[in-house]
Amino acid sequence: MASAHHITLIPGDGIGPEVAEAAVRVLDASGATLVWEREEAGAAVVEQYGTPVPPRLLESIRRTGVALKGPVTTPVGKGFRSANVTLRQELDLYAAVRPVKSLPGVETHWKDIDLIVIRENTEGLYAGLEHQVVPGVVESLKIVTERASTRIARYAFTLAEKQRRRRISSVHKANILKLSDGLFLECARQVAREHPDITYDEIIIDNCAMQLVRDPTRFDVLLLENLYGDIISDLCAGLVGGLGVVAGSNIGDHCGVFEAVHGSAPDIAGRGIANPTALILSGVELLRYLGENTAADRVAGAVHATLSDSKSRTRDLGGTATLDEFTRAVLTHLET
Ligand code: NAI
Ligand code: MG
Repeated sequence: MASAHHITLIPGDGIGPEVAEAAVRVLDASGATLVWEREEAGAAVVEQYGTPVPPRLLESIRRTGVALKGPVTTPVGKGFRSANVTLRQELDLYAAVRPVKSLPGVETHWKDIDLIVIRENTEGLYAGLEHQVVPGVVESLKIVTERASTRIARYAFTLAEKQRRRRISSVHKANILKLSDGLFLECARQVAREHPDITYDEIIIDNCAMQLVRDPTRFDVLLLENLYGDIISDLCAGLVGGLGVVAGSNIGDHCGVFEAVHGSAPDIAGRGIANPTALILSGVELLRYLGENTAADRVAGAVHATLSDSKSRTRDLGGTATLDEFTRAVLTHLET
C-alpha cells in the first residue's frame, strides 16, 4: 500500500463542517491513503487561545505541510482579526491560486471558460494596518513590497509554464495608485522579461471586470494584488456557476492550505443544502499537490459525472439535491 499522507483538517464554521465532512468522505474513497488531523480555528477557539489561529493549528500544518480548510467566519467592522488572513500570513502562503473552469452540466452564459486567478496573498490592504487619525478620519495602509510582488509574479510565470498557459495579464489600478500598483506592475514586467515565451499584458481593474463579464474566454492567467484578487475571484466564480463550485489553494514555500473561494454562507448553514463541490475540488488540488494524480483524476471525474446529472445537482445550481445526496452520488461514481 502507498504511504499515508497526514493532512490537517480545519472544518471551519457556518457551512464549513458540512462541506468538510463531505470532502473527507469523498477524498477517503479516492484511493489515496489519508490521515486527518482535526484542528479548530475562528470564533470557536478565540476565547480560549486569544487568537483565531491557535499555535497547535499552526504546528499541525507545519508538521503535515498540507491542510484542507473549510470557511471561517470573520466579524464585520469589529472583533477579532480574520483567521484566514492570519493563517496566510503566519505560514507565508503567498500565492492564492483559483482555477476557474466551465463545468459539465452547469448552465452558464459562457462556455469554455478556462482561466486561473493568481492572487498575492500576504500584503496590500490585507496587511490590516488601519488606524483612526482623528474621530471621523481613518487611514488604511496598502503595503506593496518589491519582494512580495516579484515572488508572486515568479510564481505566476512558473505555474503558467508548467501548465502550458500562454498569457498572463496583470490587473491593476496604477493610473491612480501610481506608486503601490506601479511597483506591483514594475516587478511583474521584470519577471515577464525573463519569460519571453509567455505573452504578458496589463489591464486596469475596472475595465477587466467589464471584459470578464462580456467575454471571459479571452483571458488566460490573471495576476492580481490581494484585494483585487479577492473581488475578481468571486466575479469569476459567478461566471462558471457560483461560489459553490470554485476551488482554491494557498501556497507557500513550505506548505499548502486548500480551501474553496466561498465563505461560511451563514444564510444556508446547518440546512444540509450547501454545495460541497468547491471544497471537494480544492481536495483534488490538494491531491495533486501531494503527487496523488490518479486519485485526483478519479475524484474530479466523479464530481463532473455527478454535476452532469441534473438530479444530483444542489440548489445553487438549480437542482434539488441535498448536500448528502450530492455527496452520495459522487461516492457512487467513484465506485463505478
Ligand atoms: P459567502 O461566500 O459565505 O456567501 C455568499 C453567497 O454565496 C451566499 O448567498 C451563500 O449562500 C452562497 N454560497 C457560498 N458558498 C456556497 C456553497 N458552497 N453552496 C451554496 N451556496 C454557497 O460570502 P459572505 O456571505 O460574504 O461571507 C460570509 C462569511 O464568510 C464572512 O464572515 C466572511 O468573512 C467569511 N469568509 C470566509 C472565507 C474563508 O474562510 N476563506 C472566504 C470568504 C468569506
Ligand atoms: Mg473572498
